[in-house]
Amino acid sequence: MNSDLLAKTDPEVFAAISKETSREHNNLELIASENFCSEAVLAALGSVLTNKYAEGYPGKRYYGGCKWVDVAENLAIERAKQLFGCDHANVQPHSGTSANIAAYLTLAKPGDTILGLNLSHGGHLSHGHPLNFSGRYFKVVPYMVDKDTETLDYAAIRALALEHKPRVIVSGASAYPRTIQFDKFQEIADEVGAAQLADIAHIAGLVVTGLHPSPVPYADIVTTTTHKTLRGPRGAMAMCKQKYAEDLDRMVFPGTQGGPLEHCIAAKAVAFKEALSGDFKTYQQQVLANAKALAEALTACGFRIVSGGTDNHLMMVDLRPKKITGRDAERVLGKVRITVNRNTIPYDPEKPFISSGIRLGTPALTTRNMKEPEMKVIAGLIDRAVTARDNEAELDKVKAEVGELVKGFPLYAERRAEYRALAGE
Ligand SMILES: Cc1ncc(COP(=O)(O)O)c(C=O)c1O
Repeated sequence: MNSDLLAKTDPEVFAAISKETSREHNNLELIASENFCSEAVLAALGSVLTNKYAEGYPGKRYYGGCKWVDVAENLAIERAKQLFGCDHANVQPHSGTSANIAAYLTLAKPGDTILGLNLSHGGHLSHGHPLNFSGRYFKVVPYMVDKDTETLDYAAIRALALEHKPRVIVSGASAYPRTIQFDKFQEIADEVGAAQLADIAHIAGLVVTGLHPSPVPYADIVTTTTHKTLRGPRGAMAMCKQKYAEDLDRMVFPGTQGGPLEHCIAAKAVAFKEALSGDFKTYQQQVLANAKALAEALTACGFRIVSGGTDNHLMMVDLRPKKITGRDAERVLGKVRITVNRNTIPYDPEKPFISSGIRLGTPALTTRNMKEPEMKVIAGLIDRAVTARDNEAELDKVKAEVGELVKGFPLYAERRAEYRALAGE
């Protein structure tokens, strides 16, 4: 009904949405930070809750008429607390970056020192990049991964912390394939009198299913996005120990955000309910199994996997053995409908815009029910495309094989059929 109306009132926007729906089905989505949320999550996102102003928190709003958005937000909060086992959850952050802004300003003042993983070594822009607010408002001391092992070196992080006495140590990453030891980060933070901000945006789904150690027992504040391994709507949340609860809430609103996006918050509640189910653990176990299978198959094809493998949902692929840059690989793979992002690898000789690597993750394809045999096939397709980068005929063949593969794993099938019918296809 809604699609019908949109198709009539705004055919241009409808066409964009319809084509994106087909693109998501037709492509092999290997971007590690993406996933496909459920129809139930999409239903909440597309609801009338978007109409409601609700500055404040449930029971303490600055607007009337908040009875039902309060119900939705309280459900999200209670489910988040159950899921993560945290004392306090704020489900209002619009994005991971917004959650981090509120977290930093709860724990530190502008000008204080923060220690965060360098972007080129797997960190996120909001962990202290000079162009980001975190790098502009704080004095940043970046830590790197070890050159030989390409993994976190806790002794080196400790030495930096002892030298610079940061106010906040940021743990967590965007492009780090190994287990993060949040307890070790906490030991270092305690030793130097710093707070730990754990950003589990990437690994939240693994954390809530017990497949990656949780920072919740240790870290002062834990932030996460809700749209990556957690498979919810685009958005974020922040959790903390009770002693920070009031300050964190005040820093989210009115400190750094205005009215909450109650439709997104309702969709977060739906996703948290899904994540509390037994099926979600089975899904996350398959995400891990698929990542291992893909990394092994790529290694067998002659790619080098940074740090020699993966413990989580993603891997960093060093393309230098194949004599192709990250930028070119991203372009060639895009041609054959395999979607990836270029990424610097640790100690990358190339600039970030070119880069020597690609980052691959399995959450999205696992949502489509793909398993280890498909990962092997996909590794072969990636290898063939990269090798045949200038051979259009071979690239067309690979693209056709991608097309055959995805047919067996339909995505948003009913929605696509409806859109195609409306578009007269
Ligand atoms: C570790 C980490 N933190 C924060 C973010 C930022 O999230 P958003 O893009 O929602 O601001 C990301 C996004 O990729 C991330 O990987």
